[in-house]
Amino acid sequence: MISVKDLSKSFGTKKVLDGISMTVEDGEIFGLLGPSGAGKTTLIRVLTGQLKFESGEASVMDKDVRKLSGEDKKQFGIMMDDFGLYERLNAFQNLKVFTDIYGVEKDAIDKVLAEVKLDRDAKKEVSKFSKGMKERLRLARALVTHPQVLFLDEPTSGLDPQTANEIHEIIRNRKEAGCIIFLTTHNMTEAEKLCDHLVLLNEGKIVESGAPKELCLRYDHQKRIEVTTVDGEKESLKYEAASAEYIERILREGRLSTIHSKEPNLETVFMELTGRKLEA
Ligand SMILES: Nc1ncnc2c1ncn2[C@@H]1O[C@H](COP(=O)(O)OP(=O)(O)O)[C@@H](O)[C@H]1O
Ligand SMILES: [Mg+2]
Repeated sequence: MISVKDLSKSFGTKKVLDGISMTVEDGEIFGLLGPSGAGKTTLIRVLTGQLKFESGEASVMDKDVRKLSGEDKKQFGIMMDDFGLYERLNAFQNLKVFTDIYGVEKDAIDKVLAEVKLDRDAKKEVSKFSKGMKERLRLARALVTHPQVLFLDEPTSGLDPQTANEIHEIIRNRKEAGCIIFLTTHNMTEAEKLCDHLVLLNEGKIVESGAPKELCLRYDHQKRIEVTTVDGEKESLKYEAASAEYIERILREGRLSTIHSKEPNLETVFMELTGRKLEA
């Protein structure tokens, strides 16, 4: 479990995290959704003991993040931009450098390379890897120690949809295996598809939280159903009894083509709350 209470962090005079509180439950994929500059990376650095903060409290698995020991940190798997790869080494060697420090079972590297589908490229020099392969190797490095908590900072940013989906699948499997996942993203589709619980972050402040679907329903002010018929008729109906007659009629006449509720997506919700887009 991760717990944050009234946490603030400044760089100079700029408050980057401004009194934020949140709880991450066991067995969930928790997402921090916000645009560039919101403070997402800063929060991961605070939670993993890489960065000091002025006020408030933060703990991961009941340990105060200001007092994390080396042993505590071994329970974390971290994937973020400033943890680079050794371009001149191959995939296996990159992980070996890392596991030599941490100490893992003998075949852990082979297993994790298979998990991220890089087993066939284990001996290939990383400088020859595609962006997607590098990203999967960076994920492998976070996974190889079998951490209890995974911190993933924008794990699929800039990747093609197929690689992003593969990474999502790996993350879901680790969740099933009991790992707590804390990830950041500025991509609402990723947040919606992957996360059980979301916190929307803007300029260091939490503006909303909840399950993705629940959030969209909470901000569904229009409550409308959009119906199209096979002959091209299009109707926008309110959630009211009168709409039932129309829907029943076109169903009886066999004319229904599509029917959708028109709740907002996360981008629209974020825009309503902040006046900003998620992706600049
Ligand atoms: N080391 C630092 N020194 C000064 N300002 C920083 C530093 N790291 C981040 N910031 C500032 O803090 C804000 C939040 O940054 P960051 O946590 O990286 O946001 P995000 O990851 O959501 O894009 C930004 O305005 C950024 O410029
Ligand atoms: Mg960031």
